[in-house]
Amino acid sequence: MGQIPQRFIDDLLARVDVVEVVGERVQLKKAGRNFSGLCPFHQEKTPSFTVSQDKQFYHCFGCGAHGNALRFLMEYDKLRFPEAVEQLAGRLGMEVPREGADDPRAQARERKRQEGVNLLELAASFFRERLKMPEAQAARGYLERRGLSPEVQGDFGIGYAPDAWEGLKRHLSERGVPESVQVEYGLLVHREESGRTYDRFRDRVIFPIRDFKGRTIAFGGRVLGDAKPKYLNSPESPVFHKGRELYGLYEARQANRQLERLVIVEGYMDVVALAQFGIRNAVATLGTSTSEEHLQRLFRLVGEVVFCFDGDRAGRQAASRALETVLPLMIDGRQARFLFLPEGEDPDTLVRREGPEAFEDRITCASPLSEFLFEEAGRGRDLARVEDRERFATTVLKALEKLPEGVLKSLLLGELAKRTGVEAGRFQALMKAAEPAPAEAPPPLPEAPPGEWGEPEPAATPRRKGAPLSLLGRALQLLVHEPPLVARLPEEGGWWPADDPDAALLGEVIRLLRAGGYRSGQVLLAHFHGRPEGQRLAELVRRELPIPREVRGEELEGLVAHFRRQHQQRSPQSEFEALLSKERNGERLSREEKQRLNELVLTLSRR
Ligand code: UTP
Ligand code: MN
Repeated sequence: MGQIPQRFIDDLLARVDVVEVVGERVQLKKAGRNFSGLCPFHQEKTPSFTVSQDKQFYHCFGCGAHGNALRFLMEYDKLRFPEAVEQLAGRLGMEVPREGADDPRAQARERKRQEGVNLLELAASFFRERLKMPEAQAARGYLERRGLSPEVQGDFGIGYAPDAWEGLKRHLSERGVPESVQVEYGLLVHREESGRTYDRFRDRVIFPIRDFKGRTIAFGGRVLGDAKPKYLNSPESPVFHKGRELYGLYEARQANRQLERLVIVEGYMDVVALAQFGIRNAVATLGTSTSEEHLQRLFRLVGEVVFCFDGDRAGRQAASRALETVLPLMIDGRQARFLFLPEGEDPDTLVRREGPEAFEDRITCASPLSEFLFEEAGRGRDLARVEDRERFATTVLKALEKLPEGVLKSLLLGELAKRTGVEAGRFQALMKAAEPAPAEAPPPLPEAPPGEWGEPEPAATPRRKGAPLSLLGRALQLLVHEPPLVARLPEEGGWWPADDPDAALLGEVIRLLRAGGYRSGQVLLAHFHGRPEGQRLAELVRRELPIPREVRGEELEGLVAHFRRQHQQRSPQSEFEALLSKERNGERLSREEKQRLNELVLTLSRR
């Protein structure tokens, strides 16, 4: 392997963000112009590790560790230099060139890559220049009608792709850019059948998409009229990955010395229109929903993210998805809020109609995550009803499980307690129960007998640890998975084997379920919080229940019948008593039962 050319390393370091690289391995918080966190290279309780985005290096005031993104990877991931370079290059989709004085292929590759880097800048300036020409009159008119001043157009580098099949192609080819490279970066479309190539963007207003350092990495183009598709975006390329880029992020950082909040909107035009009205902190995903990677990026820059959605059903759905995505990222100090616009409006139309102050007010008043979470969980539910309240609690808890530990989580638990009238401690228990099984295994249970119920459980899934369930364990498991089944159990107790380790717990569970206070397994679990029984139940809940819902009732009844038979065989005394009490209660005994009763009288009197 030859040497990695220094030029490549420089370029790599220019493209990568040390804050991102470090942030993937160390939890960082914005602190003034820098980011800080606990130093990964020595033990500490208070953060003395800082990362500078401007200078692109990290430094620990505690242990003196410092360096750039490459150094960090070498130290943290224990990589050798070329491996660290490979890793960084890999995340950018770049191939690491190797220099060999006598390797013309390596040189060619390096040349080609450099072309790729420059190519997008060349294209961007081509589009900008074209917007000034007579052929772009309609495009300029269009931008003007949409209220965009030349200044804002300039800030966003907006351009125009001429109405020609080979405008950009000719421009780039004259400058020595091979067609294959133009295709690779999405500027030309390659037709397989004819082998022809032509401009991807034609007669469209062009929005350059820039990375955090302002380098153009892709384009979006909008038609001037109503033709379809309305927007055309560059395809994925060695430098463009839709799922991580945000339109307007670079521009927002340019316009604000100190960003505190970013607003996520849907479209290019929304970002630009808001900027036109002085709201210069909007970003847009590129036709995808907001990903965790997007949010990670934003939270490294600001403490607060506001999601902006249409007021319609689709908007609600998008908001639910966004909520799911953002929950795990909500460490203390971060805020997420949800803004719903009136139906039929987007930020572009609304800011035009209402003006920037009204729009800012909407942002300021957007629902905090907590409010949106409770609202979503309560949607379509009547919280005066126990069942609804329970489902509400279950939904909220499921969301809270995703939250990192911290103040927000405790606050939300407290709020949930207030809204449902159940103690917060109980809910805390539920969430503990939902955590993966503890390292120490539960006490082994007796092996189930062979036969109808004793067949081995289906192939174990990774979370199904622990001993096979006893039959009584199965009954208990059925009940915690489906509490309403308690109605299928016989009124009187004593039908289950008292010597099973779960016997007492089963009795208590049946009693609680009968009392009616606990209609979901989760809430039932909360009752046993902090007791070994709670752990046992949690384990049963986690275990898969490989029985279809429709036959669970029958399964439980079958178990009861089985226990009764077993019981009778084991204890003539109790069988006798059971039959006797049945008779005393005025129930008619069958012929067999009467006969059995007589037998039992004889057996017992002979003892
Ligand atoms: P919208 O249709 O809401 O965009 O699509 P917009 O910004 O309001 O468009 P205008 O106001 O009519 O100009 C939102 C986003 O979805 C992506 C684009 O990223 C767009 O900004 N999109 C939409 C596409 O990629 N292709 C399309 O054909 C339409
Ligand atoms: Mn719009």
